Amino acid sequence: MTRTGAIGLMVFVIPGLFWPNPVHGQAGVRRTAPSVTPASTHRLVPFAETRLLMEGLTNANFLGLEKLLRSEQLDDEAWAFSRGQALLIAESGNLLLLRSPRDSRQETWMRLAGDMRDSAGQLARWVQRRDLGRSRSALMDLAGKCNACHQAFGADLQIRPFRKDTGDRDE
Ligand code: HEC
Repeated sequence: MTRTGAIGLMVFVIPGLFWPNPVHGQAGVRRTAPSVTPASTHRLVPFAETRLLMEGLTNANFLGLEKLLRSEQLDDEAWAFSRGQALLIAESGNLLLLRSPRDSRQETWMRLAGDMRDSAGQLARWVQRRDLGRSRSALMDLAGKCNACHQAFGADLQIRPFRKDTGDRDE
């Protein structure tokens, strides 16, 4: 930019900023709305069928955890893995909250899904403390929450952890 160009620009810009402007009052003190980030329009939306969620997330982690808690001793890795599995079951409880039937049974569903989530959360805490006895009891408690919902919503299966035979549950 040449020197003349710079001076020309100053003369052009400065009056616009500071001299009174007949339309907007004091030029330079015009308020512009603060820039606001638009609120996200994303909402929680279920994609998978409940059955898929059960198979792929809830039950898959339940079975893995049950297997680990069967052992008499867990090493560091097994405890860490168990904690992750319990937490993923708890998260699947959150996902169940999105899948309540839109009728008079909704409240029951929400309560049972929430109970299951909280029970899995408690289990994760015992696992974190590496208390095998309490972790096992917590898994039994969790199974009770699974079954309560299955019973209420006509899913024909019983979750029965730590059974001696190879088939751990009646389906
Ligand atoms: C809030 C309700 C609810 C809770 C809590 C719940 N389930 Fe389910 N579950 C269902 C419903 C409903 C079905 C039947 C889905 C279908 O067949 O469409 C089902 C089906 C299943 C199935 C059968 C899937 C198949 O392939 O047919 C398994 C296994 C299962 N659940 C495991 C679990 C375990 C393990 C837990 C607890 C950690 C649990 N569920 C907790 C509602 C629940």
